[in-house]
Amino acid sequence: MKDLSCTYLGLKLKSPIIAASSSFTDSFQKIQLLEQHGAGAVVLKSIFEEEILFEYDKTIREERNKTGREEFLDYLDVRIRQENISKYIDLIKKAKEQLSIPIIASINCKSTHEWMNFAKEIEKAGADALELNVFVLPSGLQTSCEENEKIYFEIASTLTKMIRIPVVLKISFYFSNLSQFIQKISYSGIKGLVLFNRFYSPDINIDTLEVSSSNVLSHPGDITMPLRWISMTSGRVGCDLAASTGVEDGKAVIKLLLAGASVVQIASALYRHGTGYFEVLNHELSEWMEQHNFTKIEDFRGKLSQIKHNDPAIYERIQFMRYFSDKETLL
Ligand SMILES: Cc1cc2nc3c(=O)[nH]c(=O)nc-3n(C[C@H](O)[C@H](O)[C@H](O)COP(=O)(O)O)c2cc1C
Repeated sequence: MKDLSCTYLGLKLKSPIIAASSSFTDSFQKIQLLEQHGAGAVVLKSIFEEEILFEYDKTIREERNKTGREEFLDYLDVRIRQENISKYIDLIKKAKEQLSIPIIASINCKSTHEWMNFAKEIEKAGADALELNVFVLPSGLQTSCEENEKIYFEIASTLTKMIRIPVVLKISFYFSNLSQFIQKISYSGIKGLVLFNRFYSPDINIDTLEVSSSNVLSHPGDITMPLRWISMTSGRVGCDLAASTGVEDGKAVIKLLLAGASVVQIASALYRHGTGYFEVLNHELSEWMEQHNFTKIEDFRGKLSQIKHNDPAIYERIQFMRYFSDKETLL
């Protein structure tokens, strides 16, 4: 096996292929298995902003009933160790005590709020980094692009001042000037960006006339999104880029590393193939490196990014004209 080691967020990883946040990363036993099968790191299943705020509310209600006093509000961040969130902290502690791969905690958020105090608890528990799945669907007709983008900058700047572990933002591609946004937010103090998050998408059932959710798992063709935007922004940003969405096999991993990703995250592939799939992917990557005489990841990472490509315009081409004029190609 080739040396697959790499650096992500300043952390040393044995492989650039890591487990994305999903139910495959929500317990110690599952994380242990992921480590045994060769995952480079693990992003824990997200805890939701609402769950954290719910705990705050519960504490407020209980204290108010007990004492009728408000002073305890100052100590709220000490009092949130309850149920779900205390389980989350225990999971981080246990994983850090007993495993050697980096453990990246994850919070699903959509605003700056009291939940941010919980990030300090995560840091104290020993997490190596914190990934924030910023869940903002820019659907409000009254909300401008600037207002939507401001949410990301506020979260990044508040949190990077509160904690010292690396902060990573996981974002969607719903921005009107994506390259510029990626570049600007990459210099906000964060250490990494995950391109891209995946939202549930609506579908319509034409038999029952109901709206349902569709495509919970991604499709292999979906890697074209992270591939395009990582290639175009790699080398032009102030933080690491992690690829997420549509990574189904070793070829996809290799393509995203060539485009400039520091690491590649997988979730749907785990649901399809199980935890042992990390061994298959690491093996495919190693074989390919052998065939191409690469001894380490850095020998080829970003080799085909736009900034290094001798025909940079190839990444900006969006017209199908050539194909429509040559029907043979389509058939
Ligand atoms: C069942 C399921 C649960 C997920 N849960 C989370 C989550 O809690 N937090 C998060 O940031 N992403 C979550 N994701 C998104 C994945 O981390 C990943 O970004 C997305 O699925 C795209 O990657 P993929 O194509 O490898 O699946 C989940 C995905 C799936 C399929």
